[in-house]
Amino acid sequence: MAGAANAQQPAPRASQSTLSLMPVPSSVTVRDGRLVMDSTFRVAVLHHTDARLLRAITRMIPRIEYRTGLVLSHAIARDSSGATLVIDCQSAGQAVQGVDEDESYSIESNSRSLILHATTTVGVIRGLETVLQLVGGDSGRYFIPAVSITDSPRFRWRGLLVDVSRHFEPVPAIERTLDGMAAVKLNVLHWHLSDDQGIRVESRRYPRLQGMGSDSLYYAQAQIRAIVAYARDRGIRVVPEFDMPGHSTAWFVGYPQYASGPGPYGIGRHWAGYPGVFDPTRETVYRFIDGFVGEVSALFPDAYWHIGGDEVNATQWKQNPRIQQYMRVHHLVDNAALQAHFNQRVSIILTKHRKRMIGWDEVLHPDLPRNTVVQSWRGTKYLGQAAAQGFSGILSAPYYLDAMQSAEWHYLADPLAGDSTLTQEQIARVLGGEACMWAELVSNGSIDSRIWPRLAAIAERFWSPQSVTDIGDMYRRLAIEDVRLEQLGLGQESHTDRSLRRIVNGPDIAALAELLRFAEPVTLGQRVRAGPTTQMTPLVQIVDAARPDPPARWKTQQMVSEVVSSPTASLAAHDSLARWFTEWRDLAPRVHDVANRAPLAQGAIPAADALSSVGAIGLAALEARKSGVPLSKAWTDSAAVTLQAADRPQGLLHLVVVPAVRRLLTP
Ligand code: ACM
Repeated sequence: MAGAANAQQPAPRASQSTLSLMPVPSSVTVRDGRLVMDSTFRVAVLHHTDARLLRAITRMIPRIEYRTGLVLSHAIARDSSGATLVIDCQSAGQAVQGVDEDESYSIESNSRSLILHATTTVGVIRGLETVLQLVGGDSGRYFIPAVSITDSPRFRWRGLLVDVSRHFEPVPAIERTLDGMAAVKLNVLHWHLSDDQGIRVESRRYPRLQGMGSDSLYYAQAQIRAIVAYARDRGIRVVPEFDMPGHSTAWFVGYPQYASGPGPYGIGRHWAGYPGVFDPTRETVYRFIDGFVGEVSALFPDAYWHIGGDEVNATQWKQNPRIQQYMRVHHLVDNAALQAHFNQRVSIILTKHRKRMIGWDEVLHPDLPRNTVVQSWRGTKYLGQAAAQGFSGILSAPYYLDAMQSAEWHYLADPLAGDSTLTQEQIARVLGGEACMWAELVSNGSIDSRIWPRLAAIAERFWSPQSVTDIGDMYRRLAIEDVRLEQLGLGQESHTDRSLRRIVNGPDIAALAELLRFAEPVTLGQRVRAGPTTQMTPLVQIVDAARPDPPARWKTQQMVSEVVSSPTASLAAHDSLARWFTEWRDLAPRVHDVANRAPLAQGAIPAADALSSVGAIGLAALEARKSGVPLSKAWTDSAAVTLQAADRPQGLLHLVVVPAVRRLLTP
């Protein structure tokens, strides 16, 4: 299942049909005929059944009703006579879903019925999402086309990290995120539960952890159990991360005795550079970690436990004479060796509690226990290094959602790029990938808009054959998937307008909404550099209303491609592009007008002004192409300078259309 087994196969044909499946299955054949959906629709389950499987079906039937307006029977029969949707499942699958759970399924549909075969309940859960995505309509009826689908994932580990330390996410936000993950067949929630800015679990053994280190924003143990169960119902594993020895200030607010320096400690309100690190030299520290893992591991049935291990600030280690003395006695030549020493001890504790250790790529060290899984965030090369040294690996470097890259950019980042020099044995160690939603500047209000819909494109990269790389078709299906995700309760589509109504304190949002069709948030790094933000900063600015990779970026690019592709490009393409450019050119006064009444809207002014200049340049360039009268060198030089400036952050926004307009200037 893992690896590049599909690399040599031609791209599956789903992309060439009218289907909008996402992720694209490994094999799809569309035939003539359709299964009409009407009120005679009946579900039957053959062979194996269990409570989880029945709950999955019971969730699906109302989703079909919501989609079609039909009133359907909610009864689930045990024999196939008269059934429209027949689910043939062989077994429950693993008691605790593991990395090697069989997620494969197949679908056969014709004008009478649809049969979903799967080896395990998780396979059925994956297949049911495909069934829902198959529902199409014409002028009179809803139907499922006649298809043969066989499907299984390319990678076994397909995850999303959600950071709930920098900003806490309440239970409903986690649940709707899990719903969306299941819709696109992701299977790991990597829950970043502690960092300098807060520790988010309830410990009964060490109650000062959440008592002093969380601002009372934490998950009670019953809530954690419920989320783990909710995830399991959707075929999703939950891997907790408790970051150590660095990124751990919040632990020391209540338990300063385990830090390497004297403190006192407070919850981190800023984003980086906290000196508090665990003291690797003291037995009491390992007893504390053992006690914590012993208690909290009971909440997380998954076989894996993430220790973080990234970005250790070694200041306290260097300044503590006892730690320096310990390093000399134990021949620990540098801080990396001291961290490896700590990791060895923590690994023994995790093994005792039947957990396998994962760490960020800084944990790579000759002394690292070989059963550790290495998660690469600093670059793809660390995945290769880990695999070459015998470690299993997970790739995250190209999937940071706070980097505000386009869906296209993430989509083309393959965990096993074609130029990879890994051997087959090393390739087999690459378990898969994880997108990361770091939450320094993400709140419960904006998280959906930051995760979705780019995550659906990343999910396809992790699931579908390597050969599925058609960007245009990906964006076509992504737009449809976005609507399907919205039906699950995710708020990414409504987020911008709702936020803008708040910003202008009224309904008149047209000008700002127009701007945000062409502008996205700057990256986390750019925003941090632009001015101070802390955990206390309300995330209510224009930048928080914007969404990454607005669909108009790709659309503008396509329109420009059409215009530049041939001198005889259609007048229609010219005209639609000219209409957009005119709108941009004329937008600035409208945005200024709104900003005169709403101080929060002032943040839109630099981008609106820049977009106006870009629109004016675009109009002139289009006119020159149409008339055949070339633009002067002086004009194009000056336009190039303006475009270069417009492509830089405008306040906290970044225009997404500048590269497309630049292409119009090139003869
Ligand atoms: C990380 O982004 N520090 C794992």
